[in-house]
Amino acid sequence: MHPLSMLSGDEITAAIAIIRSAHELAEGTLISHVVLDEPSKQYLTDWHDGDPVERVVRVLIIPGPTLELIEARVALHSATVTEWRAVSGMRPALTMHEAANAIFTTKAHPDYIAALAVRGITDIDNVQIDPWPAGVFGYAAEAGRRIARCISFVREFPTDNGYARPIEGLIVHFDLGRNEVIEVIDHGATPLPLRHGRYTADAHEPLRADLKPISITQPDGPSFVVDDNRIDWQKWSLRIGFDPYEGLTLHQVSYAGRSILHRASITEMVVPYGDPGEMHGWKNAFDAGEWGLGRMTQSLQLGCDCLGEIHYFDATLASEHGNPWVINNAICMHEEDYGILWKHVDLMTGLGEVRRSRRLVISFISTVGNYEYGFFWYLYLDGTIQHEVKLTGIMSVGALAPGVAAGDYGVEVAVGVYAPVHQHLFCSRLDFDIDGISNRVYEVEAEVVAPGHGNPWSNAFRMRKSLLESELGALRQTNSATSRAWKIENDNVHNGLGQPVAYKLIPTMSTPTMLAQPGSSVARRAGFARHNLWVTPFAADERRGAGEYPNQHDGGDGLPLWTAADRPLVDADVVVWYCFGVTHFPRPEDWPVMPVEYTGFLLQPSGFFDRNPALDVPPSNASHCHD
Ligand code: NI
Repeated sequence: MHPLSMLSGDEITAAIAIIRSAHELAEGTLISHVVLDEPSKQYLTDWHDGDPVERVVRVLIIPGPTLELIEARVALHSATVTEWRAVSGMRPALTMHEAANAIFTTKAHPDYIAALAVRGITDIDNVQIDPWPAGVFGYAAEAGRRIARCISFVREFPTDNGYARPIEGLIVHFDLGRNEVIEVIDHGATPLPLRHGRYTADAHEPLRADLKPISITQPDGPSFVVDDNRIDWQKWSLRIGFDPYEGLTLHQVSYAGRSILHRASITEMVVPYGDPGEMHGWKNAFDAGEWGLGRMTQSLQLGCDCLGEIHYFDATLASEHGNPWVINNAICMHEEDYGILWKHVDLMTGLGEVRRSRRLVISFISTVGNYEYGFFWYLYLDGTIQHEVKLTGIMSVGALAPGVAAGDYGVEVAVGVYAPVHQHLFCSRLDFDIDGISNRVYEVEAEVVAPGHGNPWSNAFRMRKSLLESELGALRQTNSATSRAWKIENDNVHNGLGQPVAYKLIPTMSTPTMLAQPGSSVARRAGFARHNLWVTPFAADERRGAGEYPNQHDGGDGLPLWTAADRPLVDADVVVWYCFGVTHFPRPEDWPVMPVEYTGFLLQPSGFFDRNPALDVPPSNASHCHD
């Protein structure tokens, strides 16, 4: 076992047993999470293969319906509870157990049944209730409780797409901890849209018949080697982990034995809606901190989600009753051909050289309510790392009465179906260790030189490089006009040309920041989304961009709070937080299920090597190339 091995079911069982032997847990206590307390860099440096491993886990306990939580630490090697700390006024992520209760309890409530009856809906079984995180909007129902704001849809039959028929105007405030309806709010009925929104094959006959098969085969097997959670592939080496909130995490990412990233993950995301109306204005889901990208991960299927020679990793989380809960095939890994890596034809000799690019893909897909998010890490032969989010699934919609226009804040995507404008904003956390822990971050971008002496043809431009010295100076936005990027350097280690070794963080496409006003509820709560870049010196408890407890949190936690100290960054153990995403103006083509939309970023070696590190990639076997 390695100190960063993924948590096992036995360890989860042991941790809960150790807690139960030391503390009595009240009837109805729920376990929010059991996660590995990741060892420090010092511990990892001092630890050698074969040494005993001291495993510590963090457990978050929900003792009851009030806003009391317990943060516990359990040392598995000594079978002791080393920390037991009551936290007051905070809410954990919504639990699936309580969300399921909300659906059953709401369906039995007389006010809810009456509101459905007004709309002519009597088939309660086919009503779909989606509990949403409530955010903070000053409703009396929010105070002192853990609540969900529930919206409803109706299906014609159990496997129908309910989102095609939103039950407009109806909102239920539900007390999750106490399993009771607080209030049924009815803003008035709108007729159900008439057309179905099915996306299954049987609803779209005849299907295309002229798509010939594509088979990906690797007769000699894949080129990677897996040992426990360690992956070795083409000079790359890393370990993976799986967190209930972040999903896949990458650890100790190195190339040819040289360290690049200590840890990388997507720590938070928020989906703020731009429609100020009563059905959509409160929608701003934090899908990591309120639901859990890891907890919502679905098992993947060979040949459908992933193509080729696949290695799957299962993920083991804790159920809300403290038992091991295995998501089979949660993480998919495979190699992909990626076109050409490099090529040149010598025009004097006519001789050409070309190499094929290949990437290692490590991914998982999370289904958070109506949306799907695929998170893909790519490692390339030339030392490049890419992160890509694939957004798909179904938009959050409402119903439009016949003859009513969609208005300024959304689009009619099907007859009577209205999709409001919104954003999807992600917050990555990149703990760089470029050839060591001591790193610094520069902003680099094009600078146009004024015409005149030294610039007689007015063509001159150069690269401007500005050191980000402390946290407040490192709150930065992208600028595609100047090709702005950020360089993470180790000033103590130089390449063969005498330049400090570095990686560059490159925004791959235009990426928005939060459009809601800075003083708005969602902008305060998702402070991370106000800037594309934040840099902090490493602190073990600074884990997720919106802080530890974003659910119904008033705001101000996370990156804005930590960086207010304006800590120095030069030659520190820097952590880079890159926030990126999309502003989604819905289209009819996004209905009833969205073709994948992409966003992400690149990490590219920039002086990390002395020359193209992929010159030693062999030419392809000639039998695979045809004139
Ligand atoms: Ni969207």
